Amino acid sequence: MTHRVLHLSDPHLAAPGVDNYGVDAGASLDRILYDARFVPDIDLVVVSGDLADDGSVEGYVGVLDRVGRFAAERGIPHVYTTGNHDIRKPFASVLGSGHLSPDGTDIGRLLDATSEVRAAVSEVSGLRVITLDSLVPGSVHGHVGEDQLEWLRTTLAEPAPAGTIVVLHHPPIAVHSSPFMKSVGLRNPADLGAAVAGSDVHVVLCGHFHLQLTGLLQGVPVWATPGVITRIDLTALPGLDRAVKGAGATVVDLGGPASPMFHTLQARDPEAGAQVYLLNSLTGAVVEDESASL
Ligand SMILES: [Fe+2]
Repeated sequence: MTHRVLHLSDPHLAAPGVDNYGVDAGASLDRILYDARFVPDIDLVVVSGDLADDGSVEGYVGVLDRVGRFAAERGIPHVYTTGNHDIRKPFASVLGSGHLSPDGTDIGRLLDATSEVRAAVSEVSGLRVITLDSLVPGSVHGHVGEDQLEWLRTTLAEPAPAGTIVVLHHPPIAVHSSPFMKSVGLRNPADLGAAVAGSDVHVVLCGHFHLQLTGLLQGVPVWATPGVITRIDLTALPGLDRAVKGAGATVVDLGGPASPMFHTLQARDPEAGAQVYLLNSLTGAVVEDESASL
């Protein structure tokens, strides 16, 4: 193994302290970081978007305080991407390019320093870390623009000593039977696939769905990590999305014959599994009685 990544996503911190559903997002992030404290040999922490539920500066500061402390204690970098809940200007005001050294210094090289788009690259002991900005302001779904794709292709043309990871919020894969995943995922997965196919990219790391999911994008592994704020799976009736408490994270091991390997962590939350919300997948309307939709 050459690198171990702690992959978090969707902490959804908000200025009021709780999110729309009354979940204490800061406590959820605290819990998974505390429970990850004995995981050895972590080289890097990545957080793949939806950092601030309300796009507030307070939300970004809350994430940086917590993840930054975890990273500083270990002397490792921490990297952040934008999600659909994020707003680029406050994100940038707190996190800069999104690539930070253990002491919080900005170490990312942006695709375009004059743009608000948060696409950047940095290196960790030979591993190249590329963040893409799939945020489409005002939309839940994601899209990676042609300028980012061109930059990605150019960057990947030169291999990195220990390979590359690409991090973005919206997964370029979806379970066929889930209208939720198909409607809110990345809208141009084939474009991203064409850019990473045949390159040195070990894995594309994503969040957004609040569930763990893996598959291939033109031969390149994709991993979506469970959410920090909530977890979702397909146990709800078709057409409904059910989120439960219980923060998750992933340990991603790179290098070696089985690379990439994914191990999910589940926080020791006494309320894990308790329902947070049940929604209609397509309208987003709250559903009070699951059995009523039978
Ligand atoms: Fe999210």
